[in-house]
Amino acid sequence: MVSEYEIKKQICDIGKRIYDRNMVAANDGNISVKLNDNEFLCTPTGVSKGFMTPEYICKVDREGNVIQANGDFRPSSEIKMHMRVYQCRPDVGSVVHAHPTFATAFAIAGIPLTAPIMPEAVISLGCVPIAKYGTPSTMEIPDAVEEWLPYYDAVLLENHGALAYSVDLLSAYHKMESLEFYAELLYKARQLGGPKELSQEQVQKLYEIRRKFGLPGKHPADMCMNAKEGKPSCHSCGGNCGGSSANTDAVIAEITKRVMEQLKLK
Ligand code: 13P
Repeated sequence: MVSEYEIKKQICDIGKRIYDRNMVAANDGNISVKLNDNEFLCTPTGVSKGFMTPEYICKVDREGNVIQANGDFRPSSEIKMHMRVYQCRPDVGSVVHAHPTFATAFAIAGIPLTAPIMPEAVISLGCVPIAKYGTPSTMEIPDAVEEWLPYYDAVLLENHGALAYSVDLLSAYHKMESLEFYAELLYKARQLGGPKELSQEQVQKLYEIRRKFGLPGKHPADMCMNAKEGKPSCHSCGGNCGGSSANTDAVIAEITKRVMEQLKLK
C-alpha cells in the first residue's frame, strides 16, 4: 500500500506539472486525493502549486474540516467543490482543478467541448459541458457542477477554469491534460477554417472501443441505452436517442437537452 507521505509527494509532483505546463498561474488551482470515506488530502490555499513540499499538504474530513495541517497552511478555498465531487461520485479517488489556457478560454466564451474532432478525446472525454458561473470559494460552484457530475469526468467552470476527476491522482491529472489538449486542438482548428468533425458512425466506433476496454468513469458512450446497440448518443442524438427504461429515458433526454442548449451558444 502507498503511504500517506508518498501520496503527498505525488500531489506535489502533479502540482509542479500543472504549474510547469501553464495550467495554472501564480497560486491558482487545487488538487485532492481520497484516502478513505472520511479522510482526504488536499493542497493548501494561497500557495503556488509548482513549489509545494509534502509538509504543505492538509488533511480534511468529508465535510472539508481540517483534520491535520502544518503551521499556517489551510485547505484550499475550493475544498467544498472537491467534496461535492466525492459525494456524488463514489468511484472518484482524486480531483484536479486548474485554469488551463485553452479550456478556460472556452469556459469564458461559453462554448462547451462537444465537437467530436479526434479519436482520443472522443474515447477519453466524450463531451465536456460547462457548469454555470459561481463565485469562487462559495457553495455556488459545488451547486453548479453537481448536475454534470453523474454523467461526465470533466467539466468547464464558466468564466473560471476546468475540473477533472478520476479513480486516482494520475488519471485525474491525465483527464485535465486531455481536456486541455482537446480544447487547444479545437481552438486551432477553428482558426484554420473550422474542424471537420468525425461522423456519427466514426464516433460510434470509438464509443464501442471504449465499452470494449471497459474504461472507468462516466462518459456519453455509457449514457444512452441505444448507444450500446450502435446508435448515436450525446454528440449527435439531439434528445431522440430513447432508452430501455423510462428512468434512463428521462435522464438521457434531460442531459441531451442541456448539452444541445449549450451547443446553441456556439
Ligand atoms: P486555492 O489556492 O484556495 O486552492 O484557490 C485557487 C483557485 O484556483 C481558486 O479557484
